[in-house]
Amino acid sequence: MSSSSRVVSDELMKLQRDYCDKVRNIYNIRGKERPMAYTQTLGCQQNEADTELIRGMLAMMGFGFCDSIAEADVVIINTCAIRDHAEQRVYGNVGELSHAKKENPNLVTVLCGCMAQQSHVAKRVRESYPYVDIVFGTHALQRFPQLLFTCLSTGKRVFDLEGDEKGAIIEGIEPVRKKGRRAWLSIMYGCNNFCSYCVVPYVRGRERSRAPEVIIEEFKSLVAQGYKDITLLGQNVNSYGSDLEGACDFPTLLERINDIPGEFWVRFMTSHPKDATPRLFDVMAKCQKVCDSIHLPVQAGNDRVLADMNRRYTAEKYLSLVAYARSVMPDITMTSDIIVGFPGETNEEFEDTISLLEKVRFDSLFTFIFSPRKGTRAYDMPDVLTKEEKQQNFDRLLEVQNRISKEKNDEYVGRRVRVLVGEEENEKNYNNDYTKQSRTEGFKLVYLRGADGLEGQFVDAVIEKSSTWALFGAVCRDEEK
Ligand code: 5AD
Ligand code: SF4
Repeated sequence: MSSSSRVVSDELMKLQRDYCDKVRNIYNIRGKERPMAYTQTLGCQQNEADTELIRGMLAMMGFGFCDSIAEADVVIINTCAIRDHAEQRVYGNVGELSHAKKENPNLVTVLCGCMAQQSHVAKRVRESYPYVDIVFGTHALQRFPQLLFTCLSTGKRVFDLEGDEKGAIIEGIEPVRKKGRRAWLSIMYGCNNFCSYCVVPYVRGRERSRAPEVIIEEFKSLVAQGYKDITLLGQNVNSYGSDLEGACDFPTLLERINDIPGEFWVRFMTSHPKDATPRLFDVMAKCQKVCDSIHLPVQAGNDRVLADMNRRYTAEKYLSLVAYARSVMPDITMTSDIIVGFPGETNEEFEDTISLLEKVRFDSLFTFIFSPRKGTRAYDMPDVLTKEEKQQNFDRLLEVQNRISKEKNDEYVGRRVRVLVGEEENEKNYNNDYTKQSRTEGFKLVYLRGADGLEGQFVDAVIEKSSTWALFGAVCRDEEK
C-alpha cells in the first residue's frame, strides 16, 4: 500500500476542526475566552514533535499555554514507554494530578503517547487513577479534539487506543513549536525493525513516510520563520521512502533540502546502521547545509549479542561504516546508544563493547541498562549477569567514554569552529565569562564569551578550553573565514 492512502489530511481533519470549534464554544459558554493548557513531555524527540502537534490542536481550540498545572484548564502528559524508569516517572507525575484535580474539579487531565497506547497501562489507569479523564494512544493523536469534546460534553472518562498497527500519517495540523532557532520535523512515523528489546514498533506501528513535497514545504516555512538548526525525525530515517514506491529515498531528500535557499543547518535522527549506506555519507559530505554529524546507535560490540538483539549487522560491518564516514568527512562527530546487561550478555561479551568504543571513539554516548518491556522478544530471555555485575559494567562504560569524550573535546582547543549562538544564557554560570550557549555543526555545546547581541546567528569562535561535556570559546569578530 502506498503511504498516500494512509494520510490523515484535510478531509479527515475537517471533522476534527469542527470539534475544535465545539470545544471552543464550551469554554466560551463557561466564560473562558482563553482556556489554558499545560503540556509535559517525556521521552524522545518524536514525542516532543507529537506534543507540538497536540499544542497545534489546542491552539485551534482557542487555548493559550501556561507553565504550571495550577493555572491550567487542561493538563496533558505525553508519555514514554522505552524503559521501565520512564513509565514509573509517569505514574509518579500522574499521582500529582489528583491534588490538582482537588484544587480545581473542572481541570481535565490527559494521558497520551507511547505508554498510553499499551492496553495494560490503560487498564491500570482506568482502575487505579480515577482522576485521569482522557487516555489516548499514539494512533489516536489526531482525534484529540473529538476526545476532549466528548469528555467536556458528557463529563465521562474517555479512552481511545484505537488504530491498527499500520498507523496513519497526520497532515493538516500546524505544530506549535518552541521559540528559538532549533526545530524538529518528522519525516516518517513508526518502525519495522523489531529489535528484540524495543517496545517502539508495538506502540508506534509500522514505518510510514511523509511525502517529500510536504516535508520540503514545511522545511521552507521553518526557514522563513527563522529556524536555523532543523532536525529531521524518524525512528530509522535511513529507510525513509521505502513505502513511497521509489519517489524519494533519504539521501535524495537530504539533497533536496540542501537546495532550499537560506542559512541553516539540517541534521537527522535516528539512523539504523543496517540501512546506512556509503551513498548517505557521500551526500552528507557533499551537501554544505547537512551537518557532518551522525547519531548511529550500535547497542553492543559483540556479534552474538547483536544477533540476539535482532540488529542485523556485525561489529565489523559497523566499524567499516564508521571508517567510510570518516574517509569522506574526517571531522564528522559521532554519537551512539549502548545497552548494557542485555539478557545473556556475559562479561566477556561486554568487553567487546568496550573494545568497540576504543576503536570508534564516539564523541559522546547515550547509555542504558537493559529494561525488560512486556510484549518484546527479550522480555523473557534469561540473564547470566547479576544486577550488581551489570551496574559495574555500566559504570566502567561511562568511565571509558568520559575519558574519550574529554580527549576528543581537548582536540578542539585552539581550533576555529562555526557555531550557532543560542538564546539561552549559561545557566550554571561556571567559567564566568562564557555566558552564551551555542552549538557546533557536530552539536557540541560551546559556551561563548563576547557573544552578546549575536543570539540566533552563525559566527566563528576560537575554542579556548574544554571539559568532558562542553567547549569554551571566544567569538571571532573579524570577517575572515
Ligand atoms: N532497555 C534499555 N534500553 C533500551 N532502548 C530501547 N529499548 C530499551 C530497553 N528495553 C535504548 C536503545 C535505543 C534507545 C532510544 O533506547 O539504546 O537506541
Ligand atoms: Fe526500537 Fe530498533 Fe526500531 Fe530503534 S530501530 S525504534 S531500537 S525497534
